[in-house]
Amino acid sequence: MNFFSFLVFVALQILFIPLAIVGVILTGYRQLVVSKKLGTSQTAIEILNGRWTMHIFGMREDEAAVRVASVLPNTSTFGLWLCLFPLWTKYKISGRYFGYPRIPEEGEEVLSDLVMARTIFFDRIVDRALDGVDQFVVMGAGFDTRAYGMARRGGVACFELDQPAVQALKLDGLRKGGVDASHVTFVEVDFSEDDVFEKLKENGYDPNKKTLFLWEGVTLYLSEGDVRKTLQSIREGAAPGSVVIADIYSENFVKDYEVGLGDIPGGDMHLLPSYSGELCGSDRERCRLLCFYRWICILSTVLLWTSL
Ligand SMILES: C[S@@+](CC[C@H](N)C(=O)[O-])C[C@H]1O[C@@H](n2cnc3c(N)ncnc32)[C@H](O)[C@@H]1O
Repeated sequence: MNFFSFLVFVALQILFIPLAIVGVILTGYRQLVVSKKLGTSQTAIEILNGRWTMHIFGMREDEAAVRVASVLPNTSTFGLWLCLFPLWTKYKISGRYFGYPRIPEEGEEVLSDLVMARTIFFDRIVDRALDGVDQFVVMGAGFDTRAYGMARRGGVACFELDQPAVQALKLDGLRKGGVDASHVTFVEVDFSEDDVFEKLKENGYDPNKKTLFLWEGVTLYLSEGDVRKTLQSIREGAAPGSVVIADIYSENFVKDYEVGLGDIPGGDMHLLPSYSGELCGSDRERCRLLCFYRWICILSTVLLWTSL
């Protein structure tokens, strides 16, 4: 069955080469250009696309992500289908993952596994930690949908923190996608400016209750000082027994990206904040160059897929 599925995949993939290119352009255009027009995070969309893919490939249940992705203006599930249909067909026939998406063995992760590996890893820890808390705070939530899935249990109060433009778009997506968000409190926060704890307290957070703080894929967009300040604020304000789950990136990681951009004008600045589009509004030229760089990455990915 595996060999048969491979033959079907190769035939379909050849037929789909032009369609996959259309898919990449459509999805990439919406992610980069439309997100920028809307003044919202495009990296958060990348995570949502990955979670949509995981759901479609039967890897991880996430109905809310599927519903939100299908109505947001800055992604295209149609475009994603055009890119992934041959791989999906192969998976359906053989029941095995091939190339993308896949859940890698620990230590064998590559860049294209980023969303899958990170999501599964965080899911495990979040799932365990949720049992012992009364409140769940998703910091820099983007289009994360855990509050509408795994966290809907035993009266856990949910809070989502992010920038206003991202939250407005997400709320619209949840409403249009028919996802109930009545149990979630949305709090507008800028980690560089605000004291997270003050903001939470103003919005109904109870500092005496044990809380799980999830800070996934966000600290790399912030300065070390802002990350330290925010963690310190949680440490001082959270009830005993509270938990913080976060990925903290080393300076070397961020510097590696800087080196990669050395020959691009403006590449001496941190790639990741500018790459995300959310923090480089004032430097149009740098944004334009980085977007161009991103397009090249997307196109090379499609070439990679089509040459599999
Ligand atoms: C890559 S996304 C991750 C989203 C989500 N945590 C997930 O894993 O799906 C990064 C998120 O951090 C948010 N973010 C970046 N800088 C921020 C800041 N200074 N204040 C608040 N949110 C910020 C962005 O708006 C975006 O939603």
